[in-house]
Amino acid sequence: MYRTHTCGELRIQDKGRKVTLAGWIQKSRKLGGMTFIDLRDRYGITQLVVEADAPQKLVETATSLGREFVIQATGEVVERQAKNPKMDTGDIEIKLEKISILNKSVTPPFTIEDESDGGEDIRAKYRYLDLRRNPLRKALTLRHRVAHEVRNYLDARGFLEIETPYLIKSTPEGARDFVVPSRMNQGQFYALPQSPQTFKQLLMVAGYDRYFQIVRCFRDEDLRADRQPEFTQIDCEMSFVEQEDVLNTFEGMMRTLFKNVLDVEIPNPIPRMSWYDAMDKYGSDKPDIRYGMTIHDLTAVAKGKGFGVLDGAAYIGSIAVPGAAEYTRKQVDELTEWVKRPQVGAKGLIYIRVNADGTYKSSIDKFYSPQDLAKIAEAAEAKAGDLILVMSGDNMRKVQTMLGVLRIEMGNRLGLRNPKEFAPLWIVDFPLLEWDDETQRFYAMHHPFTAPKPEHEKWFYSNAKEDLERVCANAYDFVLNGTELGGGSIRIHNADMQKRMFEVLGIGPEEAEYKFGFIINAFKFGAPPHGGLAFGFDRVCALFGGSDSIRDYIAFPKNNQGRDVMIDSPSQIDQEQLDELAIDVRKHE
Ligand code: AMO
Repeated sequence: MYRTHTCGELRIQDKGRKVTLAGWIQKSRKLGGMTFIDLRDRYGITQLVVEADAPQKLVETATSLGREFVIQATGEVVERQAKNPKMDTGDIEIKLEKISILNKSVTPPFTIEDESDGGEDIRAKYRYLDLRRNPLRKALTLRHRVAHEVRNYLDARGFLEIETPYLIKSTPEGARDFVVPSRMNQGQFYALPQSPQTFKQLLMVAGYDRYFQIVRCFRDEDLRADRQPEFTQIDCEMSFVEQEDVLNTFEGMMRTLFKNVLDVEIPNPIPRMSWYDAMDKYGSDKPDIRYGMTIHDLTAVAKGKGFGVLDGAAYIGSIAVPGAAEYTRKQVDELTEWVKRPQVGAKGLIYIRVNADGTYKSSIDKFYSPQDLAKIAEAAEAKAGDLILVMSGDNMRKVQTMLGVLRIEMGNRLGLRNPKEFAPLWIVDFPLLEWDDETQRFYAMHHPFTAPKPEHEKWFYSNAKEDLERVCANAYDFVLNGTELGGGSIRIHNADMQKRMFEVLGIGPEEAEYKFGFIINAFKFGAPPHGGLAFGFDRVCALFGGSDSIRDYIAFPKNNQGRDVMIDSPSQIDQEQLDELAIDVRKHE
């Protein structure tokens, strides 16, 4: 037997016991002839001590130990002289009688402690060492716990976990596919699933009316802190349900996760907001409602004073930043530069200071009298001490989106986005379709399997652009603290309606048949009404852990260039392999 206990287990009650532990040397130090060793494993750290008068061989072995050596140590649990209340095992130490070195280690490239001295790149290269650190161990433990709670909750409600294939045909979720060449079908490719969307719908046709899967998805898209090329979804689908049933089921799941994993009560019911309200008030389809600072429409009050920029704008909007009237000129200039960065894309920023004494100072004083500014401040719902920030443009949604980005930035700067506070929200009543000026066609806002609201079907079958633009869907997103954690919809379950959808999206009958014939066909065999959703599992874990970055919650993630620097992938493959696949590789110029 290698060990009788783990390194996180022993307490003062174990005093006097003879134990054997196994683990890694976190550090060791000599103090007045005694050697103190911190022994670590997945469960914690236990202090080992070799007394000054211990047998010489033991003292020598203890002195020879380096960082990250793997040892087995036997001794007696004794009460510590100097207790460490920060450690679970801090009341005791093990007075050693025997040490066996199970394996040596070269010096690790960074310190394996809670606060490591290693930079991001080096830690990524040695991910298996980074994973020995406490914060990552906690993150992966949390991930396991969330998955476990999800399975319990769904299993108790009759959901079956069913695996769907990874080598499939493209699923349209809006990103690029990762593709896999087929050796047995030369010149043909599988696509890795962007989600199991079509398969879970086929499972509904098959009669498995409550399905879920904790499943890997693959999307070739630009990466960010909350996006990985392969990530995991909690993917769910139900038959014979309406939107209300789906929302209630998964609201319950989130409530249970919060309660059982974090011991946090979230609002019951979770508030709902229409997509239109979210855009108008927060400039985002994933608003952070932990704080106000909402957007106000100034179009009616701010026009007609001879200031060309605003007079010519189709939309003028503002946010009022509390307490920021005191911003210096330099701070306002810096903000202006900030919104002009390509990531935000504003042309400029107008400010109005609402001074504590009720006077105004603005960048548009030349055109607006104090009375005009007072009217604007009223429309902006600004209070004394606020700084009103105004943006304008010819596309309302674009201006609102820029204001939304600025709102989040100001929320960060003012410390209003406390990661320990959770404000979940359902966004509902999404438009079904989104017009793209560049390609002059409609795209499905969620995906092409989402059904129009029954009361909007008349517009769905109209060919007028304005009609199609106002069709709403029973689509919903679960949003938490400004992050989209999940989304789904009630689906189309009728072959003709699905055909119409492809037509609206400019996918011709042949292309639709080639790409999605299987699902249109399946709908002819008695498809039940159905709907579902998927949560981003990595995002749920990261938010539960209080982090913006999902990378820490994935054992072996990729970096921002989509590379795994530990195994050095992607990489070239042998000519022989290429030949077998009948692939010629051509280097891009
Ligand atoms: P959607 O595309 O909205 O819906 O994805 C669902 C959730 O998956 C998470 N997510 C990601 N997480 C990490 N990295 C990524 N690259 C990434 N992309 C998405 C998000 C998102 O809310 N089939 C539909 C669901 C349905 O209709 O049932 C779908 O995939 O948290």
